[in-house]
Amino acid sequence: MSGMTVSVDGNNYPAVIISPTVITANVSITTVPTNNIVNVSIKSSTGATLGTVTLGVASAARTLAADVYPILDAKCRSCHTGAANGNLDFATYATTASANTTGLIGIPSSGCSQKYRVAVGDARRTSSVLIDKISASGTPCSGTLMPPTGSPALTSTEIQTIIDWVAGGAN
Ligand code: HEC
Repeated sequence: MSGMTVSVDGNNYPAVIISPTVITANVSITTVPTNNIVNVSIKSSTGATLGTVTLGVASAARTLAADVYPILDAKCRSCHTGAANGNLDFATYATTASANTTGLIGIPSSGCSQKYRVAVGDARRTSSVLIDKISASGTPCSGTLMPPTGSPALTSTEIQTIIDWVAGGAN
């Protein structure tokens, strides 16, 4: 089949068929989109939508070890050590990265069990409870803003660093 396109937030790019199950497209994203998310759809040569997917877009490459854990260590670890306080353990890099129930990545939230603390690649508040909790209070799942009043607040740069880490794949 020829003439397929990959559409990213309404902009169409020619798709190259690599194999029956793989297509590629060179896509250019010049500004970081709202919520760090783009909506991607695959379209046939007649314009019919064959499938859709939502992808995270980061404004900078961030890792847990180099960029995010130092923030959690400085501003969150005082309360989040061991299973106390939401069963989320930032005691060390290893506990934070752990696939255990006290870890962060792909682990169901204790306060909002139908959602993940970090949904890999999806930094929307509605998807990742970590992003919800550092953004504001007020959504059904967000409860108290983190860090709570009285603790040193996150700067906007620190919040964006955490958003970029989640959007870029939570590596
Ligand atoms: C003063 C103590 C305190 C500090 C500091 C603190 N937290 Fe919390 N955190 C709590 C408590 C208590 C809960 C459980 C109640 C709730 O969910 O609001 C919690 C819950 C959470 C949850 C929800 C866990 C889940 O599984 O539902 C996240 C995510 C979180 N905190 C992230 C952070 C981050 C990120 C920071 C640092 C920016 C931070 N917290 C700093 C006390 C704290």
